[in-house]
Amino acid sequence: MSPGADGRFAHGKVILLGEHAVVHGHLALAAAIDRGVRAAARPADADRLHVTPWGVEVAADPDAEDPLSRAFAAVLETLPGGRPPLRVDARVELPGGAGLGCSAALGVAILAAATDAVGAPAGPAALAERSLAWERVFHGNPSGVDNATAAFGGVLAFRRGEAPTPIAPGRPLDLVVAHGGTASSTKAMVAGVAARLAAEPQAMGARLAHLGALAERGRGLLEDGDLRALGGVLDEAQGGLEAIGVGAPRLAALCRVARRAGAVGAKLTGAGGGGCIVALTDGPEAARAVADALAAGDPGEGADGAPAEAFTARVGA
Ligand code: PMV
Repeated sequence: MSPGADGRFAHGKVILLGEHAVVHGHLALAAAIDRGVRAAARPADADRLHVTPWGVEVAADPDAEDPLSRAFAAVLETLPGGRPPLRVDARVELPGGAGLGCSAALGVAILAAATDAVGAPAGPAALAERSLAWERVFHGNPSGVDNATAAFGGVLAFRRGEAPTPIAPGRPLDLVVAHGGTASSTKAMVAGVAARLAAEPQAMGARLAHLGALAERGRGLLEDGDLRALGGVLDEAQGGLEAIGVGAPRLAALCRVARRAGAVGAKLTGAGGGGCIVALTDGPEAARAVADALAAGDPGEGADGAPAEAFTARVGA
C-alpha cells in the first residue's frame, strides 16, 4: 500500500500455498502483484464511490441490496466521527472473481484514500484489519490474507489472527498467472469447504492440515530459493485442492499446459472453481514461454485447453 500523487495503491495478490486451509487456521503464503487498485478521496456533498472501468457509482448504504454500497458504508464506518462526506474514485486493474484479491485491494485502497482525506492516514496493519469490514460483505468469512497482502505488499506468511510475516525469497519468483475465463464466488467456495468439513471432519480436517503443511514446507524452500522443489510443492497442493473439492477441469488443464511448457509447478490460486492458476518458472524467459503457451492454448486438452489470458509477474526481486 503506497501513497501516490493520484491516490493510494493496494496490491492484488496470488496465493502461492495454503488457500482455504488459511480460513481454518493453517499457514498461507501470498505474494503481492503489481496490478491492483488505486483510489483517491476528497470531501464532497455526500458519500459516493465511483469505480472505473466498471462505470459504477454507489452511495454508502448499510441496508442496500447492492453489496458494493453496503461494503462502502462498512469501511466509512471505521473512520473517525465528525468527518466530512467523501467522494472516492477507485480504478481497478484486476479481474473480479479471479482469485487475485480484487475485492480486498478495492477495500484497502478505498479505506486508505478515505483515511488520508480525513487527515487520519492509516498504516498497513490498521488498513488490513479495518478493511475486513469490507471483505466480510463479499466473502462472509475471510481469513484476512487478501487484505494483509493488499495492504503490505511483498511476499507474506500469513496465519489468521496473527500479524503477517514478510518473507525474503532466496531468489525472485517468475510467476505466470492465467485466467480460465470464468469467475467464481469466494464466498460460495469457502462455504462449500466448510460444509464438507462439517460433514466429514476427520478426512477434511486432515486434507486442510496437509495443505497448511505444504505451505510450511514451501516457506522454507522459498527462503532458500529452491524453486524446483517449491514447484513440486505447488503441484502437490494442486492435488490437495482438488481433494477438498475446489478444483475444476479447466484449471487442471491449464496447470498441465503450463507444466508442459516448462513451469516447475502449477496450481489454482485463490478460491478455485473458476478464476486463475499460478505457475512457477525458473526465470523470466521461461515465464514468457509458459505465458505464450497458455495464451495459445492446447487443442490436445479439448475445450479445457482453450487459449487463456495470461501474464507474467516477478515477485520478491
Ligand atoms: O479471494 P480469493 O478468491 O483470492 O480467495 C482467498 C483465499 C481463500 O483462502 C479461499 C479465502 C480466504 O479468506 O482466505
